[in-house]
Amino acid sequence: MATTRALLKSPIIISSSKATNITPNCLHKYISKPHSFFRTNASAYEYNDEKNSPQLVSLEYADLNLTDKFCEEVGHVRVRQHVNPLRAQLMIPAQVPDWNNVFTDATLPLMVDIGSGSGRFLLWLAKTNPHCRNYLGIEIREKLVKRANYWVDELAFSNIHYIFANAMVSFKQLVTTYPGPLKLVTILCPDPHFKKKHHKRRVVQKPLVDSIVDCLMPGGQVFIQSDIFDVALDMRNYFDAEEERLVHIDNIDSTMHCNNEGWLLNSPLGIRTEREIYAENEGAQIYRRMYQKVGAIFPNSAFLAAMELSVLVYEFQQRVIILLQGKLDHHT
Ligand SMILES: C[S@@+](CC[C@H](N)C(=O)[O-])C[C@H]1O[C@@H](n2cnc3c(N)ncnc32)[C@H](O)[C@@H]1O
Repeated sequence: MATTRALLKSPIIISSSKATNITPNCLHKYISKPHSFFRTNASAYEYNDEKNSPQLVSLEYADLNLTDKFCEEVGHVRVRQHVNPLRAQLMIPAQVPDWNNVFTDATLPLMVDIGSGSGRFLLWLAKTNPHCRNYLGIEIREKLVKRANYWVDELAFSNIHYIFANAMVSFKQLVTTYPGPLKLVTILCPDPHFKKKHHKRRVVQKPLVDSIVDCLMPGGQVFIQSDIFDVALDMRNYFDAEEERLVHIDNIDSTMHCNNEGWLLNSPLGIRTEREIYAENEGAQIYRRMYQKVGAIFPNSAFLAAMELSVLVYEFQQRVIILLQGKLDHHT
């Protein structure tokens, strides 16, 4: 725990591959990882432990080729580690954008990353998987959002957008106004707010979980992870409780394996987030769960039981009809 706390207190250092002298050619040392969800590249899943975390981050995102030079408005980005999402100024609902202005095709399925941090993770997905979906990062630290949208403009991507918002307040309004279906929600290494009296500041609370599950399309998915066991367990308890509407992915996808405690062995995303890289470089384990919403694509066990019951009722009705018909024939 001490290591993890130190890790969480470490400053967020955001550097480009230019700054660290590491080129994408170094990636030959790295092994790509199987995935079930997105196209992936040769990313730093297995790495040379002589490299420090910022270097590993630069390597992982080298092919984005992001600039360190920002416009005046974005300026130098140095941000506080944790903000209190319950502060009055952060409880104001975010303005909903005109979705047709921010995405070329606002009817595509949407992926939302809650607490998108620097935004590089989502940028990489948007670049690697274009045309099939749109990407929305919700982040409570405004400077990170400004810089992420600056990068989006620089790269001229039209399938990704970042919003400065408190997900606890604005998630539902944002996704319900989006014209297309909600396909995937990720909550990756959320702020831990260690002290018990601060647990209410954690982003995953019952109202947000309800909104996510309500808004997901049938077959839509939610992926959560944390390097802090207590935080991961807290999130897991909320989503496990939705057993009527969510099924864990290992029940329906035989390529998604869990350990004995039910934590996924691998990430399906094809790229690690910055916090994940820092944590793994410190030797931390990442605790992951992925759920799929039941519905047209995959019925849950309660639904199957109901189907079986209705078949039984139907068969019973048929037998009664045959019996009655037999009696009627007998009388006439
Ligand atoms: C520990 S960082 C992880 C960032 C990124 N997901 C990663 O794994 O590298 C958690 C992020 O969530 C953001 N955050 C915390 N509470 C939030 C909230 N209520 N709404 C939106 N973002 C939030 C923080 O500002 C921070 O950028």
